[in-house]
Amino acid sequence: MIDLRSDTVTKPTSAMRKAMAAAEVGDDVYAEDPTVNLLQEKAAEIFGKEAALFCPTGSMGNQIAVKLHTKAGDEIIIEERGHIFNYEMGTPSVVAGVLVRPVRSADGSGILTWDEISSALHTNQPYYACPTGLVCLENSHNLAGGTILTKDRTDEICEKAHNLTIPVHLDGARIFNASVALNESVAELSKNCDSVQFCLSKGLGAPVGSMLLGTKDFIEEARVWRKRLGGGMRQVGVLAAAGLIAMTETPKILHLDHENAKRLTEGVANLKGVSIDAEKVATNIVIFDVSNAEITAGEICAKLKEHGILASAFGNSIRMVTHYDVSKEDIETTLKAMEKIIK
Ligand SMILES: Cc1ncc(COP(=O)(O)O)c(C=O)c1O
Repeated sequence: MIDLRSDTVTKPTSAMRKAMAAAEVGDDVYAEDPTVNLLQEKAAEIFGKEAALFCPTGSMGNQIAVKLHTKAGDEIIIEERGHIFNYEMGTPSVVAGVLVRPVRSADGSGILTWDEISSALHTNQPYYACPTGLVCLENSHNLAGGTILTKDRTDEICEKAHNLTIPVHLDGARIFNASVALNESVAELSKNCDSVQFCLSKGLGAPVGSMLLGTKDFIEEARVWRKRLGGGMRQVGVLAAAGLIAMTETPKILHLDHENAKRLTEGVANLKGVSIDAEKVATNIVIFDVSNAEITAGEICAKLKEHGILASAFGNSIRMVTHYDVSKEDIETTLKAMEKIIK
């Protein structure tokens, strides 16, 4: 199958499997796994943050951050299609006891401006509004089609939020894709954010794992919450070994996924009934609307499956995600199948 449903479907490379087999391990709940410790040190170094913590999932990393930055009864601000709000099972309300205030990005890019954020803030209404405890950003923005947040925009939001003593968490599940697209280091893109989460298990290709980064004190407290949430793992260096390769090697080839996404975008844009804003496709996620086609998004995906291609339908849209297990040829095969199906 050509699997374009997500970049989470990548299989570990043979280099990762070898490193996993050879990994030195210890009990990570005692912070004694040398491979996990190395991964955490390297991640902190790459991001220019004081410390990092290996988490089983991106959701856990994000939710620990939400919990640590806020207190029960606060509100957190996020773009309305943000992952923390839509796909993390309501955990902000369950674990942190906070309300999520979703904010629409007027230009549809999923990238909020400071004006959009500030109009949703509650900073001085102590008797009738939940105080804003945190601003959450997402780079790249998954559901908006892999759109990217520039360093300037991130810095502006951080500076203005900090002036109001509001911290900023960055869900950087795919920040390495943003970094490649913007030709800007992940450290610069997240420099002023109080915490960052990024996934080793998406386009970077590790089978499991995400990193949460922040100050030393923040990460020490995060370690407590990871354990509380059931994420204290033991000889997990076998996974960190794959993560080290994912974090240091895969960024060098992410541009190929972006080139494939561009080609896919050009191809589908020419099909009758398909609409896509090609300018917005900056990374490895391609979302196009098929409301004007004579066949629904669900039917198109069912037919693609008969051609050996997997894609996801969301309402009238189809999402296709490129990654290292999808070749240039796979993109051409997909476009030929799409032509047949839509015609
Ligand atoms: C933007 C974003 N953040 C967080 C996550 C959560 O990652 P995980 O599936 O590892 O919990 C995802 C997963 O798709 C994501 O796309």
